[in-house]
Amino acid sequence: MNLLVTGGCGFIGANFIRLLLDQPDFSGHIINVDCLTYAGNPENLADIEKSAGDRYTFIKADICDRKTMASIFDDHAIDTVCHFAAESHVDRSIVSPDAFIQTNINGTFTLLELCRERKGRLQRFHHISTDEVYGSLGKDGYFHEETPYQPSSPYSASKAASDHLVRAYHTTYGLPATISNCSNNYGPFQFPEKLIPLMICNALEGKRLPVYGDGKNVRDWLYVTDHCRAVWEIIKNGKDGETYNIGGNCEMENIRLVETICDALDQIARPLADNKPRKSLITFVKDRPGHDRRYAIDATKLKEHLGWIPATSIETGIRATIDWYLDHKEWMERVKSGAYRSWIQMQYQ
Ligand code: NAD
Ligand code: DAU
Repeated sequence: MNLLVTGGCGFIGANFIRLLLDQPDFSGHIINVDCLTYAGNPENLADIEKSAGDRYTFIKADICDRKTMASIFDDHAIDTVCHFAAESHVDRSIVSPDAFIQTNINGTFTLLELCRERKGRLQRFHHISTDEVYGSLGKDGYFHEETPYQPSSPYSASKAASDHLVRAYHTTYGLPATISNCSNNYGPFQFPEKLIPLMICNALEGKRLPVYGDGKNVRDWLYVTDHCRAVWEIIKNGKDGETYNIGGNCEMENIRLVETICDALDQIARPLADNKPRKSLITFVKDRPGHDRRYAIDATKLKEHLGWIPATSIETGIRATIDWYLDHKEWMERVKSGAYRSWIQMQYQ
């Protein structure tokens, strides 16, 4: 397998590459294409770059750049694609949606066209998507694979558009495509703008913990390695044209999650200067516009068809995540620093 992974220097992509290179049933080559936006960090795979030899290649490129991407497909005889690259943060999409339309829609379209031109040798195009395409749930019910799309934010609308394109390329051109729609991931290497790493970083530094609205919005949390295992299972054994929902079976109100993180940090991290419990840092702030109230995934199809279930409990996962951030304070400082971002960009010109 010559596997093109897009967005492999981001949070989930980096975890996926690390997992895959350790799988006994993967003996192929990974070509990681990432243009290194603020969220992409080759440091996440620096050790892999040394240890994996010619099984792993990193190329800095933009998935929207059709000419460069065409050479990559041909030079590396790409036969399988796992497409993670995206602008991924809802709040950023509300402030400036342009990059979301460009990468998430046009970037996916570019990859699909390149695959269509090379359909003969393409085994699988796997598209990574989100449960946010389904919109918001009320108090009850779950998102199923057949739930109609009703995206709320520019981010989820752009992901919905890309899902429709992938499905259309399967229906119209017979592209061997699969899609997965996953719930909220957490774990190592997540950029500290998303809820869990932001709360860990701020709580460690004694900064305020901004909780949107009344804090009662519900998300379904999944440890990132469980998501990556599901993706590998779908690439290997998923059926062309199918969509699979991936979820953690772990619904939590934001406020409860933030309090859990505060309590865990009070137990294991250095106390705050004034010895106050970290919960005292919680600050309710203005709500996110169009904030979806509740997400919950029914992942029965993935269980019944491919035997996948989540393996990591929220207690174990949160503890592992906190431990990782405690052990990687310098990583945290570096990814937050603007100067570091420009330096990384220069290294990979
Ligand atoms: P991320 O923001 O951490 O990483 C995205 C990566 O894509 C970065 O390395 C970035 O440099 C790269 N990238 C962005 N634009 C690019 C372009 N034009 N060309 C090449 N590379 C580009 O995102 P993530 O959280 O790892 O999410 C990965 C995928 O999973 C996304 O498609 C996202 O929609 C989806 N997803 C994320 C979650 C979650 O909870 N994080 C849940 C469900 C689905
Ligand atoms: O559901 C899958 C999606 O999960 C992915 O498709 C997205 O890429 C990923 O970013 C994530 O989207 P969310 O918007 O759910 O994640 P975020 O971490 O930004 O927010 C989680 C919840 O916490 C949400 O209800 C908003 C709230 N929140 C977030 C931040 C950053 C706060 O209350 N305060 C905050 O500072």
